[in-house]
Amino acid sequence: MKFAAGLIVLVSIARAETGQEAWLRYRPLRGHFPSVVVKLGNAPEIDAAQREIWRAIFGFSGKLPGEIDTLASDSLVLGTTGEVKRALPGIVLPELRADGFLLRQIDREGRPSVLITSPNGRGVLYGAFAWIRNVMDGGVVPPVEASNPAAPIRWVNQWDNLDGAIERGYAGRSIFFENNNVVADLTRAGEYARLLASVGINGCTVNNVNANPRVLASEFLPRVARIAEAFRPWGVRLSLSADFASPKTIGGLDTFDPLDTRVIDWWQAKADEIYKLIPDFAGFVLKADSEGRVGPSTYGRTHAQAANLLAHALKPHGGILIYRGFVYDHHADWRNLKNDRARAAYDNFQPLDGQFAENSAIQVKPGPIDFQAREPVSPLIGALKNTNQTLELQITQEYTGQQRHLCYLALMWKQVLDFDLRVDNGRTPVKDLAAGRTFRRPLGGMVGVANAGSDANWLGHDLAMANLYAFGRLSWDPDLSAEAIAEEWTSQTFGSDKRIVSTVSGLLMDSWPTYEGYTGPLGLGTLTDILHGHYGPGIESAERNGWGQWIRADHEGIGMDRTVATGTGYIGQYPAEVARRYESVKESPDELVLFMHHLPYTHLLHSGKTIIQHVYDSHYAAAEEAQRFPIRWRALDGLIDPERFAAVMKRLEYQAGHAIVWRDAICSWFLRESGIPDAQGRAGHFPGRTEAEAMDLDGYAIKDVTPWEDASGGKAVACERAPKSCAASFAFQGAAGRYDIAVQYFDVNAGDARFKLSVGQQVLQAWTANDHLPTTALNGDSSTRQTVLGVKLQPNDVIRIEGSPDGGDSAAIDYVEVKESHD
Ligand code: GCU
Repeated sequence: MKFAAGLIVLVSIARAETGQEAWLRYRPLRGHFPSVVVKLGNAPEIDAAQREIWRAIFGFSGKLPGEIDTLASDSLVLGTTGEVKRALPGIVLPELRADGFLLRQIDREGRPSVLITSPNGRGVLYGAFAWIRNVMDGGVVPPVEASNPAAPIRWVNQWDNLDGAIERGYAGRSIFFENNNVVADLTRAGEYARLLASVGINGCTVNNVNANPRVLASEFLPRVARIAEAFRPWGVRLSLSADFASPKTIGGLDTFDPLDTRVIDWWQAKADEIYKLIPDFAGFVLKADSEGRVGPSTYGRTHAQAANLLAHALKPHGGILIYRGFVYDHHADWRNLKNDRARAAYDNFQPLDGQFAENSAIQVKPGPIDFQAREPVSPLIGALKNTNQTLELQITQEYTGQQRHLCYLALMWKQVLDFDLRVDNGRTPVKDLAAGRTFRRPLGGMVGVANAGSDANWLGHDLAMANLYAFGRLSWDPDLSAEAIAEEWTSQTFGSDKRIVSTVSGLLMDSWPTYEGYTGPLGLGTLTDILHGHYGPGIESAERNGWGQWIRADHEGIGMDRTVATGTGYIGQYPAEVARRYESVKESPDELVLFMHHLPYTHLLHSGKTIIQHVYDSHYAAAEEAQRFPIRWRALDGLIDPERFAAVMKRLEYQAGHAIVWRDAICSWFLRESGIPDAQGRAGHFPGRTEAEAMDLDGYAIKDVTPWEDASGGKAVACERAPKSCAASFAFQGAAGRYDIAVQYFDVNAGDARFKLSVGQQVLQAWTANDHLPTTALNGDSSTRQTVLGVKLQPNDVIRIEGSPDGGDSAAIDYVEVKESHD
């Protein structure tokens, strides 16, 4: 009973509902659960499976099943197929691939038992998690019986730096590294591996693709080996991002030329050294000749020569080399209308098809640019017939709201996975190409850039965990629907009550179209500030620089001409049928038309709207939809725990405010650029809004905001006379009634300014600007709002905001909006 006592502590600690348990939340459930667990064999993953089943059954029933090693009635039997056949001679089992599993009811002494088996220990663990999932989803989805993974590579990449920061991480510090060392306590690394294993993920690259060479230093590797140890029970193999110059930077050679024998020997010795410490090391990930990383071009060598150098060193040990396909020139000349970053992946790798070692794969981003809210499928995916590939999806929401916005990406991923590239005029969906099925490649699969961090709930936003979950589920089975995944995730994470499942999965399903709706339209990309945080709006940051995310906007029209006939020729990289569709403006789908063509604002879309009217309409509709997210969430008050209810509510309310920042920035910018008014009269007209710069200012100074579209009227007011506070006020001019008052202000990451909103002598609300938004500047990253509902106002009431600056936070204000209350 020692174990049971430990479990009870574990379960009661977990009850704090921090989100830490994610979808593995084992709460009391009605039903009968096996009274014993039979373990056949001793693989570490089978031990983990047994502990997991114990943990789950204890959580479901409050009872701890017994443990025996012979078959018995009312049991749950765990073992590899070899062991099961020995224990049950004559049993017929289906063919299973490595990691695949079978869940089957078997009769023991007239009472049913559950058999969980797989050719390998890892598969038994996956079967155990599948059994738990079946129990927990309360019949939301049909129970799984036999299941094989779609592909062997199902990895996550973490972009963790050795100092503990995470590149494009939005949920705290690294769980692996701190102060240029591996963290002392790797409990959370083990818990992370458990989460990954529960959805079938079998590999994790723990350091940033922009790799610090030190990770491969002999003194550092034993530390990394500790992470591999924490992963091992869960069948998650550790991999490392390598720096291509390592033989020189840490190896003491005067070269890193991939054809130099000293370099070849260095990588071989390095691989041998790693495998002595980490016998199940999965392999290397290599970002070379990209965004300032060195690569084979230093010596005039090819990507294939670079990849093969590392692949050959790994081969004797069974490791693989994953080479990033994200290679492009970030100093491109924007004046040359034929230049096109979208062409880069194909241009770099297609000519090398067939030259890469069998134990290597090219990791291709789903779109040709970079994880935007919408992109066409990368043509490189259809062009690798004799080279392995893996599809790289981004779980961390770099361009999709950074986990402050709800954006369920599974819907977008499904569109990619199901997209039929029509290679050789046949049915060739991306999911088959990436898995290696189409061209019978030995390797293939999916890699998700996860960037989970030290925040208790792993990704910062409790609902963002649906993306990590969905990535795992889709990497196992890309035929699952985004909706079914949303439902099963919800029932495990929050409970299987129908109201919970429909509300949460409904929000998830609406979130990506909504996010796309208030950010970049018609395939233009997210239209975020690409030179800084990749977060708030910054439309022209894409133009007139070497990064190549150009949208080629002028007063007449917008969009990149990527046609073969008159443009960059990008469309010619697609197989004929797809190319034909994109080459024609008429046949291009609306959602990508400006990715493919440069068109006037007055061009008529399939929807029957002009481009410009579509921009206005979609932004108003999506921002309106985002206002409903917190209202929809409110329906769960009392149905789920108060901690997660409040945490999610806070994020959804923030998102609702930020959606308006986005809407206004995009609509104002398009209005000014095109000079064509909104047929519905909304863009540029803001009823009930009073600009801060038009108020009576006491101490506040008027400031220009850059880019101008990120602030209403392009201006804000800032208080720069700390420690004294400032005030902005105006007299309400409307009729007597009940109103909602929204204060749009800036919360920069440089101090905690305080605000006080009052009407006459009455203070309505006081708050501190202490959110962690990704900028110290006044712009669309820091613009946020505070709303007070149902305020009684009389004509000429004085509405006043007092702002107290703190540190670098100048308590800046954009505007106040007063609207009739429906609360
Ligand atoms: C994006 C991202 C970088 C990252 C790069 C990559 O450009 O902003 O932080 O390093 O992708 O995928 O290599």
